[in-house]
Amino acid sequence: MSIGGSGGHDAFALAAAHPNLSVTVEDLHECGPIFTSQVPSTLSSRVTFREHNFFDPQPVSADIYLLKLILHDWPDAESIKILQQLRPVLKPGAKILFIDYMGKQGEVDPNLPRSITQFGTSTDLRMMALFNARERSLEAWKGIVGKADERFEIVRVEANPLTYMVVMEVVWRG
Ligand SMILES: C[S@@+](CC[C@H](N)C(=O)[O-])C[C@H]1O[C@@H](n2cnc3c(N)ncnc32)[C@H](O)[C@@H]1O
Repeated sequence: MSIGGSGGHDAFALAAAHPNLSVTVEDLHECGPIFTSQVPSTLSSRVTFREHNFFDPQPVSADIYLLKLILHDWPDAESIKILQQLRPVLKPGAKILFIDYMGKQGEVDPNLPRSITQFGTSTDLRMMALFNARERSLEAWKGIVGKADERFEIVRVEANPLTYMVVMEVVWRG
């Protein structure tokens, strides 16, 4: 399941790379026609689109829910709600694969090239200009998951200061 999966670009790449994978792409109504115009015929039996507002309870039970570049657009309360709306259909052991931007981690490593550190600064400036906010730190991201439900267990974290991205694998222990 690709939540907020837009027109399906990530789902197409994943399904092409994994022949046994089926993916449902969920997004708002306006993404439906984009998906329909872009889904490759070779994948149309395994990659499908359904309209869904992620602030509503999730009705589809899946093994893995991908949330990529979704929560950084939303304040804490809304981010927590988006995660909580998955709970009704989560099977024990279901996974949430979380990929998002990460703000700077404390002091900047003086050995990093400036071209890299300016990327972190510019993402923070963009968030400040648009939302009076900044990208969340790794600890803040973990806090969002923990506040959503104590039965979400973070089992893997890859936080690369060179890319300002964080990947977290979260397992439902309900
Ligand atoms: C920043 S884009 C990320 C798209 C994709 N996950 C990616 O990584 O390229 C955020 C997506 O969330 C979708 N979105 C925004 N509000 C939504 C809502 N209430 N319910 C479902 N999808 C929503 C947008 O339409 C958009 O496709």
